[in-house]
Amino acid sequence: MDATESIATADEATQRARATSLLAPRFYKTDFQAMDRFDFAPLRSEWDTLLAEFERDVNRSHFERDEQFKDEVQALPPELKQEFVDFLISSVTAEFSGCVLYHDIKQNVQNPDMRALMGYMTRDESRHAGFINRCLRDFDLGVDLPALKKTKDYTFFRPKFIYYATYLSEKIGYARYIMIYRQLQKHPEKCFHPIFRWFEMWCNDEFRHGEAFALMMRSEPKLLRGHNKLWIRFFLLAVFATMYVRDHMRPTLSKAMGFDPTDYDMRVLHITSEITKQVFPLTLDLDHPAFRAGLDRLFRIADRQRTLKKQGGVVAGIKRVGLTAAAVATFVRMYLLPTQSNAAPEQIRLAPAW
Ligand SMILES: [Fe+2]
Ligand SMILES: [Fe+2]
Repeated sequence: MDATESIATADEATQRARATSLLAPRFYKTDFQAMDRFDFAPLRSEWDTLLAEFERDVNRSHFERDEQFKDEVQALPPELKQEFVDFLISSVTAEFSGCVLYHDIKQNVQNPDMRALMGYMTRDESRHAGFINRCLRDFDLGVDLPALKKTKDYTFFRPKFIYYATYLSEKIGYARYIMIYRQLQKHPEKCFHPIFRWFEMWCNDEFRHGEAFALMMRSEPKLLRGHNKLWIRFFLLAVFATMYVRDHMRPTLSKAMGFDPTDYDMRVLHITSEITKQVFPLTLDLDHPAFRAGLDRLFRIADRQRTLKKQGGVVAGIKRVGLTAAAVATFVRMYLLPTQSNAAPEQIRLAPAW
């Protein structure tokens, strides 16, 4: 089931959330014993500050609906509704993926600092997933989260891959939400659903989660050196390209918020790239003409794939194989573009200042 098929029932919503594809959010397992051995000592004072922030729980009462919420939920034109529902399902899956992973880590380690950290992040992600799912339930399209936990495929990632991937998805999540919030603050007439009013405080949670992974990586400098730089480059490109393609598949949603998807995505990527300088030794050259052309090409290939998938049949199947090869070749070419190197700043922590 792909993003263009409209979702009519809660079962279909759960099915969409469960589907495994290159573009859909995944669920993860990791090496819990390795996570348990993580040493908090080298950055003790940074960790104490961060854990105290988590404990203060400034968003404790944020994820409750206000009086106006219900009145602001309006009927949407069918195409916009379909893309918005797709956005909500993909978002609830991503939020719940964090919730499940952090909870699993907490349950499987003894280290009290790691348990506390994962407990706080589970708390936040469960609020986020719950809030989105309530919005889906308004349309009678709530995802069955317990069933999803049981039946979705899990991808095993070594802890370092969890750090690279989760760090990036937390920070890009921050950048996406804050950009939407700022845009709708400027153009309140485009705020077609009340959920967007929650995004400002919400994205600060994501920013803080990202800070935790930044500290983890900065505690183990070998994760940021040598051949690991190749992995970092891979994850940067994979996360950035996935977002670009996925957003371009929802043109009506962008338009309703008053965004051009390319402009929105490039701004999100620039913010994210700037943030990652706190930890990653390199950034991608986002303005390189071949990089921009590559992103567009990946989207065009994915769009064509989607059409062929709907057509079905042997010929379409063969064409899809060819397109997959073209996508891989494009990805490799983009991967090989020059990067900009970056020295680790002494001050690791950043404030969500965008
Ligand atoms: Fe979240
Ligand atoms: Fe998060």
